[in-house]
Amino acid sequence: MSNIKIELTKQSKLKDLDLENIVFGREFSDHMFIMDYYDGQWRDARIEPFKNMEVSPAFLSLHYAQSIFEGLKAFYTQNDEIVLFRPQANFARLNKSAERMCIPPIDEAFTLDALKQLVNIDRAWVPNVKGASLYIRPLIFATDEFVGVKPSETYRFVIFTCPVNKYYDAPVKVKIEESYTRACSGGVGYSKTAGNYASSLYPTKLAIKEGFDQLIWTDGKEHKFIEESGTMNLMVVIDGKLITPISGDTILAGITRDSVLKIARDWGMPVEERNLAVQELLDAHAAGTLTEVFGTGTAVTICHIITIGYRGQLLELPAVAGRVFSNKVNDQLAKIRLGSDVDKFDWIEKVG
Ligand code: COI
Repeated sequence: MSNIKIELTKQSKLKDLDLENIVFGREFSDHMFIMDYYDGQWRDARIEPFKNMEVSPAFLSLHYAQSIFEGLKAFYTQNDEIVLFRPQANFARLNKSAERMCIPPIDEAFTLDALKQLVNIDRAWVPNVKGASLYIRPLIFATDEFVGVKPSETYRFVIFTCPVNKYYDAPVKVKIEESYTRACSGGVGYSKTAGNYASSLYPTKLAIKEGFDQLIWTDGKEHKFIEESGTMNLMVVIDGKLITPISGDTILAGITRDSVLKIARDWGMPVEERNLAVQELLDAHAAGTLTEVFGTGTAVTICHIITIGYRGQLLELPAVAGRVFSNKVNDQLAKIRLGSDVDKFDWIEKVG
């Protein structure tokens, strides 16, 4: 592995950034990290100005979706330090996705060091505004120019970053999807790979037309059990118990999901990772024991769900202000990131 070559931009775009009106995912910081895989090794690690790349129309990734990615965030602490939240977990998951998609693994320690250098160079892009952060997008895609289905022999790994604010502006309205399927057992549902998101677009578009923001996917076999939502893992509180579907091979093993479960267990809250039937959700709603429904994810952190659509009916959920657990865990995550509470799980990584 070579050292990282650094080329700094001659013209920063920072002056054009309106921190008060950031649209999630539309603003890109000045620099990006790149390395390429060829002749059996990751090589030529470098940090360069963010710019367009040359793309061959024959790239395997464009045709056969041999492409994986991650999402993590950098934040300012209350002591004006910049920190990353659980980056090791993201790079471990990237390698898990890589294995499933026949992509060569990356060196996780080297990549973390490269990311810290990148964030340090673009530290002026980390928003020091409540609720905002620097979203980090690591991405690997196949670059062999070839028509035919086979694993590529060359790849590009890019990390770029975006200053972001909230992903959703308000609590969301979701529809339980029973016709289309996101993932089946034995498939790639647990992998953060491009195709999982591409296949979700059409069913989500139909739901948006009906007035929803997102879908809740159900299992591909019987459409009886809750899986995850399009942009987040799903959790519910029924009778004071926190319940979430098992992260098997059809569900993304969310890092925010894991963090929320760890905090809940630490607080002594009953936690159940198990199959969650749609019928159980409906029964609990009818009985008044379904007190909270929310999504967890890097982009959304905690996203309250206010309405669930099911077979033409709308289930209205309790007001967000009265949701004790999801509001408290959201505050706790913020405190850990800010450094205003002890990082007892060792989740915070200083950028330096
Ligand atoms: C994330 O939560 O980081 C994701 O990759 C999901 C996407 C909706 C931004």
